[in-house]
Amino acid sequence: MAPRNLIPDNLDGTIRVLHISDCHLYADSRRDLLGVNTMDSFRSTLLDIIAQNREYDFIAVTGDLSQDYSVASYEHFAREIAILKKPVFFLPGNHDDGPLMYKIFGNLGINVEKNVITPYWQFIFLNSEVYAVPHGWIEKRQLDYVRFCAHRSPDKYIVVLVHHMPQLVNSAWLDTQTMHNKEEFNACMRTIPNLKLVLTGHVHQEFEHEEYGIKYLATPSTSIQFAPLSANFSLDDIGPGWRYLTFYPDGTFESEVCRLKNNIFTPNFDSGGY
Ligand SMILES: [Fe+2]
Repeated sequence: MAPRNLIPDNLDGTIRVLHISDCHLYADSRRDLLGVNTMDSFRSTLLDIIAQNREYDFIAVTGDLSQDYSVASYEHFAREIAILKKPVFFLPGNHDDGPLMYKIFGNLGINVEKNVITPYWQFIFLNSEVYAVPHGWIEKRQLDYVRFCAHRSPDKYIVVLVHHMPQLVNSAWLDTQTMHNKEEFNACMRTIPNLKLVLTGHVHQEFEHEEYGIKYLATPSTSIQFAPLSANFSLDDIGPGWRYLTFYPDGTFESEVCRLKNNIFTPNFDSGGY
């Protein structure tokens, strides 16, 4: 059976997506992550998104919504993101409790579907979480699910979303936390007809790579940022960010990263780890 179309069709066939990631919210909204109050930075991000007044059809969130695995942190997320008044789809990250999210989000207004179908594109949300460790791993059934979705809707271009970037970002410390079976993942991706984009979070920085005609994009966090190209753990003083993507009927797409306009969030640069 074909999955339901949960997104209203646009007359011109384009689909616009707001991508946010790595909110790292706590049950106690007063708590900081390495010097940044993650609730405040999340709220500021949402207000900037509203202020930009741009059109988008749904919101994709690629994991680490929580920093403490708590029900309250997910309730905070659902309550705050509702201000955008758009459908929200998610996948878990290494700081999340995936089973808990799938259990409670349906009652909190967050979609739990993993295959978002639109007239010309489909979006497939995967789970690379290995509970309570920072690195990722893609199980065979996740790859089977991508093959299944591709086979079920062979006429649509494909975006795969997953928390861990299956490419090295050339930061030695962060590259130990990558998707550990990324070779298996990427070998599968290369066999998927119409796959155009792999979209991730986890690395808390803007990142772009392309190989075999597949673009790999990582989007900044709404909380702390990691300094690119750092051998050792290193924070960046650049502000929280998000990404807008526009997908066209001919299989092409455009992407733009935005940052908080007036960044007031400075992390504790003495932090030695994450
Ligand atoms: Fe994260």
